[in-house]
Amino acid sequence: MPSVPKAPQWDVHRLPHADGKSFLVTGGNAGIGYFVAEQLAGTGATVVLGSRDTAKAEAAIASISSRVPGAKAKHLPLDLADLASLGASVAALELDRLDAVVYNAGVALDHPPRRETKDGHELMFATNHLGHFALTHWLAPLLTATPGSRIVTTGSFAAKSERLDLDDLQSTHDYQPKRAYARSKLAQMLFALELDRRLRAAGSTTLSVVVHPGGALDSLTPSRPPVHVRTTGERLRYLPLGLLVQGKDAAAWPAVRAVLDPSVRGGQMWSPRAFGLRGTPRIEPIWNHLADTTTAAHLWAASCNLSGNDLTFTPHDQVR
Ligand SMILES: NC(=O)c1ccc[n+]([C@@H]2O[C@H](COP(=O)([O-])OP(=O)(O)OC[C@H]3O[C@@H](n4cnc5c(N)ncnc54)[C@H](OP(=O)(O)O)[C@@H]3O)[C@@H](O)[C@H]2O)c1
Repeated sequence: MPSVPKAPQWDVHRLPHADGKSFLVTGGNAGIGYFVAEQLAGTGATVVLGSRDTAKAEAAIASISSRVPGAKAKHLPLDLADLASLGASVAALELDRLDAVVYNAGVALDHPPRRETKDGHELMFATNHLGHFALTHWLAPLLTATPGSRIVTTGSFAAKSERLDLDDLQSTHDYQPKRAYARSKLAQMLFALELDRRLRAAGSTTLSVVVHPGGALDSLTPSRPPVHVRTTGERLRYLPLGLLVQGKDAAAWPAVRAVLDPSVRGGQMWSPRAFGLRGTPRIEPIWNHLADTTTAAHLWAASCNLSGNDLTFTPHDQVR
């Protein structure tokens, strides 16, 4: 297993100031993404919640504002399952810099039937991977024009034991929802690492970093009404599970660190310290199958075809 550099100390409760910076969090209206947005808002930065549901985004912004005095949080309408809408979403961002984007939004289906987006793509692969791939195409000019900007992609521990089927990326045969989910997260992680290689080759200062949040349960997550409400009974009932996994507030820590910590480098993976499932963030060695550059290159080409976006980086940060 390759050795990883020792990371400097980091206090998840005392984050550096980031006044003047702008961060976008996809799916910032709920779950882990909400806590990423709340924690980033505490740094003084402008935080944009990319969300398909205006009411949920407004509730999340109200909750953030009630906890972070003077929070600069706003909503960007964003539906990752609707590829044709993403260009217009990014055009509505109205930012002159974007210091980081956290690709957090995700769908995990537990039961058949296999579902498709209106573009005819399998829903989890389309939302989790293709949507973020296409979003990168639209965000790239803004990101690469912001020195040292970061693209933080949320993978999953579930991808560790999974492999892609390049001949059936969209699970048209033998659809198994849990496997399709894990493969969509694996695709995201392979993409993020390939993205970093391509950014480096183009001489860009933009970094691509992979994170995974470990295991995160709503029942271990503190209330943020009306975004999330946990009853006392629920809290007590699930307390023992906290030995193994964590709340979504703590699951946000790897992404927040990947956005803010100056010691973070492109191509790294950050995850919870205790068995990759819970705890404070640490650098995790890249899993062997994530270093498979041939598979990553095939996936990239297929993603260009399927999304209709030719994501290309050329030297001097030129992006087409
Ligand atoms: N929880 C875990 O244990 C765990 C473990 C490993 C990895 N992860 C990953 O961590 C991320 C967050 O997970 P979570 O547990 O916080 O999930 P969650 O509570 O279900 O939240 C998912 C978020 O994604 C948004 N979303 C779904 N489809 C979307 C679309 N088409 N366009 C825009 N946004 C969309 C949801 O918005 P709506 O509110 O509109 O549905 C919601 O904000 C996901 O990428 C997940 O794969 C989670």
